[in-house]
Amino acid sequence: MDEEKLQETINKMVIRGRGILAADESEKTAAKRLASINVESTEETRRQYRNLILTTPGMENYISGVILFEETLHQESDSGVLFPEVLQENGIVPGIKVDQGLADLNEGGEKYTKGLEGLGERLQVYKKSGVRFAKWRAVYTISKNRPSAEAIKRNARDLSLYAKICHENGLVPIVEPEVLIDGTHSIEQCYEATENVLRAVFEALKREKVRIDLCLLKPSMVISGKEAVNRADVDEVAKQTIKCLRATVPAELPSINFLSGGQTPIEATAHLNRINMLGEDLPWYISFSFARALQEPALKAWQGKQENVKAGQDAFLKRARLNGLATQGKYREDME
Ligand code: G3H
Repeated sequence: MDEEKLQETINKMVIRGRGILAADESEKTAAKRLASINVESTEETRRQYRNLILTTPGMENYISGVILFEETLHQESDSGVLFPEVLQENGIVPGIKVDQGLADLNEGGEKYTKGLEGLGERLQVYKKSGVRFAKWRAVYTISKNRPSAEAIKRNARDLSLYAKICHENGLVPIVEPEVLIDGTHSIEQCYEATENVLRAVFEALKREKVRIDLCLLKPSMVISGKEAVNRADVDEVAKQTIKCLRATVPAELPSINFLSGGQTPIEATAHLNRINMLGEDLPWYISFSFARALQEPALKAWQGKQENVKAGQDAFLKRARLNGLATQGKYREDME
């Protein structure tokens, strides 16, 4: 394991005021996002959209790393430069989603994540495109008996094996256990599920002797279900999230980069900001690795039209800047 190289990558990614952009939508998810603005998803429309986001002037002031989808590694900007190179030229570290999506785990509808087979070989190929970190997402649903012990155990094991393979191949692993926001559950139920999930993930990482100081964590926040009545407010989300992290995450982890998970862009920024305001003494850097909460306004402003590219980039840059402030607890709602 090349510790120095891994540490160097982490140093470039963990920078105060900056976070990670997740632009790693699979073809299926990209089609969904483009359909929301009535744009057909083709290789070219996906390239145009990635071009808008990844060539936004000034994004490097707030974004230190970008998670890409495999297809994007081989696509070029309007100026004919491969996207990973566009990022590197701006001092942004390119990374890649390496899981291969979800599969059924049991009859209860729970999922595990595919992609462990042949992962090492794939990482060696991705590295040739300049990527320096990877991402693997596991999902958990909340209901009366879920997440089950089986789902918690299986996903923790797979996340730890993935992280180990990343280290062996010189890539920093982003470990992403996402407790889904879908449902009517209370914030207390989300707390319990998230605590169990994170505890199991770190136990598995330790069991596999994965160096936690060379990993990044991308968790969901502790939050009420999207359809819950009386959803917890910003303060409560921040308090419960901090309590859960303190109970489960080892101090040697360098950075926690939240996913947005279906929160509105403003909600996600407000929560991140509050967590940083209340969690000044936490041992980790607390930042973002949002997809939807960074990109949704840009997509809406763009509408698939060339004349709206600048408006799309402005909308993206605004969210990046406000989230950059939120990593320092300096965001206020009147900045919207
Ligand atoms: O895996 C999910 C993405 O990397 C994060 O997406 O911020 O839209 O939840 P999200």
